[in-house]
Amino acid sequence: MLETAIRAAREAGRVLVEQYQRPHEVRVKGFRDIATEADFAAEKVALDVIREGCPDARFVSEESFATQPVSTQAPTWYVDPLDGTTNFARGLPLFSVSVAMAQGGQVQVGAVYDPLLDQLFYAERGQGAYLNGERLRVSERQELINSLVLLDWPRAQEPRRIEVEYLARLAPQVDAIRSRGSAALGFCSVAAGWVEAYFQYTLGPWDVAAGWLILEEAGGKATDLRGERADLTKPDWLATNGLIHEAMLAVQPFGR
Ligand code: IPD
Ligand code: CA
Ligand code: CA
Repeated sequence: MLETAIRAAREAGRVLVEQYQRPHEVRVKGFRDIATEADFAAEKVALDVIREGCPDARFVSEESFATQPVSTQAPTWYVDPLDGTTNFARGLPLFSVSVAMAQGGQVQVGAVYDPLLDQLFYAERGQGAYLNGERLRVSERQELINSLVLLDWPRAQEPRRIEVEYLARLAPQVDAIRSRGSAALGFCSVAAGWVEAYFQYTLGPWDVAAGWLILEEAGGKATDLRGERADLTKPDWLATNGLIHEAMLAVQPFGR
């Protein structure tokens, strides 16, 4: 299954790179929400690869099958064929493909591919996390003041307001705060030890399924933004190296 996830991520990534330099057909899906022809083309390639490798696959895939599965027994594939569509459509070179399979209520394998840098992050439950074959480990930084924090922006106004409040509380206490525009790469950046934390208030399950497993297999921790157990049905996520998790939660304004 890991091989299938990796193949799907790589092949979808190849489609994205081919289409990246060309003009895009932009379709408006909602407020601050778009899709391009490349989202659909990459999704088709990824789903075909998965169907071949896993004939009884069910899908939770952003563009075509965006509903939650009812069964936890069948292998359920969470696919984001282009995570970072806004960047892609504007020519900002920062996006990824995210592919994960969950069964028995847990993510079992995950792959996140950054096709421009040819960086493949992947993990299988219990087997560690890797970047292009090198074992990943979260950073050992323990102090907020030495920590780099990544965030992405909710589309809706109210969660965005809450995020601004969190940002205002957090900014004086950390080294720096950055935003990349791909949630999957946000999780992987924590897993790789490049940053200490990542958060967002409104993510979909396809954004996080692969990155969550990769993060945990690299020794990191994910909860919701109240500090409760993470769950693919919840929108709000805090992913950290584990060591600064409580300190990050201590200054968050969510729900107050
Ligand atoms: C988006 C990105 C972004 C996050 C959004 C996601 P998309 O995914 O991951 O960083 O803030 O919530 O929807 O739409 O580019 O696949
Ligand atoms: Ca996404
Ligand atoms: Ca997407």
